[in-house]
Amino acid sequence: MRLLYSLLTLVPCCLLVSAKSLSGNKVLVVLDDIATKDQYSIFFNSLTDRGFSLTFNGATDSSLSLIQYDERSFDHLVLFSPDTKKYGGSLTAATLVDFTNKGGNVLVASSSNVSPVIQQFAAQVGIDFDDQGTSVIDHFQYNDTSAHTVIASNHFTPLTAILSPNVRQGAPVLFNGVGHLTSPHLYTTAILKAGPTAYSYETKENVIVDDDITLIGSEIALVSSHQALNNARVTFSGSLDLFSDRFATSPVKVHGSEQKYVKSGNEAFFNELSQWTFQEKGVLKAVNVKHHKVGEEEFPGWYRINDQIVYEIELSEYFNDQWHPYVAPDVQLEAIMLDPYVRVTLNQTQNQSPSSTKYVGLVGLPDVYGVYTLQVNYKRHGLSYVVEKDVVPIRPYRHNEYPRFLTVAYPYYASSGSMLVGFIVFSAVWLYNRDAGAPKKKTN
Ligand SMILES: *[C@@H]1O[C@H](CO)[C@@H](O)[C@H](O)[C@H]1NC(C)=O
Ligand SMILES: *[C@@H]1O[C@H](CO)[C@@H](O)[C@H](O)[C@H]1NC(C)=O
Repeated sequence: MRLLYSLLTLVPCCLLVSAKSLSGNKVLVVLDDIATKDQYSIFFNSLTDRGFSLTFNGATDSSLSLIQYDERSFDHLVLFSPDTKKYGGSLTAATLVDFTNKGGNVLVASSSNVSPVIQQFAAQVGIDFDDQGTSVIDHFQYNDTSAHTVIASNHFTPLTAILSPNVRQGAPVLFNGVGHLTSPHLYTTAILKAGPTAYSYETKENVIVDDDITLIGSEIALVSSHQALNNARVTFSGSLDLFSDRFATSPVKVHGSEQKYVKSGNEAFFNELSQWTFQEKGVLKAVNVKHHKVGEEEFPGWYRINDQIVYEIELSEYFNDQWHPYVAPDVQLEAIMLDPYVRVTLNQTQNQSPSSTKYVGLVGLPDVYGVYTLQVNYKRHGLSYVVEKDVVPIRPYRHNEYPRFLTVAYPYYASSGSMLVGFIVFSAVWLYNRDAGAPKKKTN
C-alpha cells in the first residue's frame, strides 16, 4: 500500500519534469570557476523550472566530456567560461563544432577576455568577435559606470519566433562585454544589437592601444545566433554579465527620461533566448506531405510531362509546449532538375487540424522529361528549416499517347490523298488508252 502510494505521488512529479525542449533535457554547464554558479541563479533556476537537468563542470576539469563513443553525452551546452584559455578534457573549438554537427545546441557567453576557443568556434559559424580586451562602449546609452562599458540596449531582432513582442517592447537589456560582427547570411541572425552611438574599443588601462576602432554603431552585434543545417542552434552573447543576477535585478534608466528607472529587461530576454536556443520554440515541422495526379489519390510512381498534379504539405510550429498551425504566405514548391523548372507559391487552405496548416498547390509539370526533385525548401530566420524532398521520374509521352489526327496536318493528309487518287487515275488512263497515231499491229 505504501509502495503504491509513493508510486502514485511519483507519477505527477515525473510528468512535471518532462522537458519542454524538443531535443532532450540534459544540459552541461561549463563555468570558469564552479563556485561562481550562484551569481547566475535566476538563469539556472529558470532552466531547472523548465524541466532541464543541469550538470555543472569547471572549465579546466579533466573529466569534461561532450562526446563519448561518438555520441553526444548532453543535449545542450551552456558555455559560461570566457576566461579559460585551455579547457580540460579535450574540449576544443573542433569538439564544439562536432557537438553541433551531432545536433547539440550551444549557448556561449563571452566577456572582454574572449577566450581563443570561443573566438575560433564563433569564426566557424560566421561570427567574428572583436579583439581580446575590447569592450562595447556607449556614452549615451550607458548605466552609471565611469567607463560607460555597462550599456543598455533595446535594439532587438524583429523576429517574433525568437523574441516575443513583450520582450521587444520591454525594458532595455544591460550588457557588459565584447562586440562582434555577424555575416549577413541566412544561417546567422543578430538578436541584440548596439545603438548607433556605440563603438568597440580597448579598455585596459596603462596599455598602449591600437587607435583603430574596428566596430562602430548599429553594426555591432551583442547577441547573435547561428542555426546549422541540421537545425542545431548556437547562440553567442558577448557578455556573461548579461545572465547574472546582478544585471537581471538591476534597475535601468528608461530611454529618454532622466530619472525614471525600471527593472532591466535581462531576465525576460535571457529566458526567451535560452528557450529559442534549446528548441523550446521556433521549431517547424512538416507533416502529411503528399502529391498525386489531379483526380487521383495516390502517387503512381512516375508522372508524365505536362501532367497536372496536386501537392500538399502541412506545417506546424512548436512553442509553449505545443504544436500550433504555422501560417505564412511564402511557402513554395519547386520542381528541380539541376535548375528549378517550376516554382510556385502554395496556397494555404482552411485549417483542418488544430496543430497544423495545410498548403496545397495545383502544379503543371514541365514539358521536359527527366528525374526531378519536388521540394519544399523553407528556410527563414528564427525558424528551424523545413526541407522536404521527393525524387520523381517524369517520362515523355509513349508513341501511342500522341493524338492520332491533328487539325494542322490536314493539308498533308489532303496532299497524300490527292496524290493517291492522281496515281490511280493516271494509271487507268495510261493502261486503257490507245495512242491513235501508233502503227497498228499486223494480225495474220
Ligand atoms: C545601473 O544603474 C542603477 C542606477 O544607478 C544602479 O542601481 C545599478 O546597480 C546599475 N546596474 C549595473 C549592472 O551596474
Ligand atoms: C492559388 O490560388 C489562386 C487563386 O485561386 C490560383 O490562381 C493559383 O493557381 C493557386 N496556386 C496554386 C499553386 O495552386
